[in-house]
Amino acid sequence: MIELRTPGEIAAMRPAGRFVADVLTRLTDEVQVGVNLLELDAIAHRMIRDHGAESCYIDYHPSFGASPFGKVLCTSVNDAVLHGLPHDYALQDGDVVSLDFAASVDGWVADSAVTVVAGTARPADSALIDTTRRALAAGIEQARNGHKLGDVSAAIGDVCHAAGYSVNLEFGGHGVGRTMHGDPHVPNDGRPSRGLRLRPGLVIAIEPWLLQTTDRIVTDPDGWTLRSRDGSRGAHSEHTVAVTDGDPLVLTARA
Ligand code: MF3
Ligand code: CO
Repeated sequence: MIELRTPGEIAAMRPAGRFVADVLTRLTDEVQVGVNLLELDAIAHRMIRDHGAESCYIDYHPSFGASPFGKVLCTSVNDAVLHGLPHDYALQDGDVVSLDFAASVDGWVADSAVTVVAGTARPADSALIDTTRRALAAGIEQARNGHKLGDVSAAIGDVCHAAGYSVNLEFGGHGVGRTMHGDPHVPNDGRPSRGLRLRPGLVIAIEPWLLQTTDRIVTDPDGWTLRSRDGSRGAHSEHTVAVTDGDPLVLTARA
């Protein structure tokens, strides 16, 4: 079911968006050679506690998950791209790290992801990350009253294809509200002018993710982490966005 939020409800979602943005800003600064993924999760955990927020991940146990997620942050390194379960690993120079974080504040959820490099980035990795960012920006730009969901999807897909990447349609964006995952599903490729008509009050997470040389993924033995099938590296960029009667409102915008 598609739920539309009133302007008052959208306003009430802003603290969640700001909190998620603040956590990712802090974690982005912490990504350095030698830093352990468990420490990144611990920092996010402390920030949740100090803020009186609630994790959307720690008890999360969907049909595809082996057991409750148990951490508050997804850390997907190198050939991992989504749902990376933090584990005892110290970052090395050139590692590509996708940080995906969702939490609720005052009963409203925000969901966002960013990909950063520890130390010195390889050019091919910078290009991959940059493409997910540009795809996200292109998708957000289409999240307007009267547009169709297919306009958002097509804009994302166009940026990815133009840069030479193929797009996986198994995991994409989603409605966000009182819970992390709601309708509609927001595929990372599609056809313009097709699908749901976007209305003010629709709140969606838009989340392009890409792999260097494949669109196929496999699940790690940990039961959560999704890796590229060919070992090539991945990147992921995500914001929670509200459709308004004016410009798209990026609830998780970082300063
Ligand atoms: N935040 C992710 C998304 O963008 C979902 C992570 S679920 C977890 O939809 F299981 F990894 F926690
Ligand atoms: Co999401």
